[in-house]
Amino acid sequence: MNVETEICGLKLRNPTMLAAGILGMTASSLNRIYDHGAGAVVTKSFTKNPKKGYKNPVIVEVDCGILNAIGLSNPGVKIFKEELKKVKKEIPIIASIAGSSPKEFAEVSKEVSDLVDMIEINVSCPHAGEGYGSFIGQDPKLTYEVVKAVKKAVNLPVSVKLTANVADIVEIAINAKKGGCDALTLINSVGPGMKIDIKTAKPVLSNRFGGLSGPAIKPIAIRCVYEIYENMEIPIIGVGGITTYKDVIEFLYAGARAVQIGTGILYKGVNIFQDIVYGLKKFMKENNFKSVDEMVGLAHR
Ligand SMILES: Cc1cc2nc3c(=O)[nH]c(=O)nc-3n(C[C@H](O)[C@H](O)[C@H](O)COP(=O)(O)O)c2cc1C
Repeated sequence: MNVETEICGLKLRNPTMLAAGILGMTASSLNRIYDHGAGAVVTKSFTKNPKKGYKNPVIVEVDCGILNAIGLSNPGVKIFKEELKKVKKEIPIIASIAGSSPKEFAEVSKEVSDLVDMIEINVSCPHAGEGYGSFIGQDPKLTYEVVKAVKKAVNLPVSVKLTANVADIVEIAINAKKGGCDALTLINSVGPGMKIDIKTAKPVLSNRFGGLSGPAIKPIAIRCVYEIYENMEIPIIGVGGITTYKDVIEFLYAGARAVQIGTGILYKGVNIFQDIVYGLKKFMKENNFKSVDEMVGLAHR
């Protein structure tokens, strides 16, 4: 059973990708995720200069997902480049870029453009710290400017990762497309949300608030993918709450051509990729699907 797919000219052996921010900081973890069956890998978001992020605790489990407030901690593009050089050549790799201005997004993207196959612009982190994050992806004009600057700086396909924390995600997406993006990644973590320790009566996360991910956000992500597919013509990468092959099928039916998995790895380990691909192949065989392509957008009939 063939589960190959293609997004913006990037050929994938299957539609699963590692989502940004989970095990994507080093070449060895990116290589390992590919060896465990992912079709492509996305790096942790990185910025021009190193960013310390928040103090621990930065992550906590809640009823149907997790809250995280990492604060975009990363070693900066110079050090990240050295990791990217060590990623195996056959791996389709997407660099997730964060920044505080169109200029920074463009500079960082350019710096790594020889080492990756695609850029994913992160304008949607709900806990990125001052000057960074979802305030950009909540502003149609700023989103347009960031995308335009990056597209001018690199000769690579560019996907924009959007936040669901907006009144009208289609308006933001239209502006991202006007800026020249080739695909959309939907969605980043939601909220922020909060957990309070009932013994200490204190917030658990050092930042108090954190982005919600995992099964709790899947229905929101599915709705966003469906809404964009219904209103625009642009390839979509779906992300949010995937833990099984059934979730992947829902994303494909909503309109995604590929999917990303983050929190699911924390629940199920790195074998999640091969387990999902196995389940997807079995489902396709039983339901007479010959290709992933045939499944994309089926819910819109
Ligand atoms: C610990 C953690 C760190 C994350 N870091 C990033 C990041 O650096 N850049 C980004 O675009 N998204 C980041 N995300 C968001 C994920 O890529 C993804 O969009 C979100 O978690 C929803 O997918 P999931 O439910 O499969 O985790 C992070 C998520 C988690 C849980």
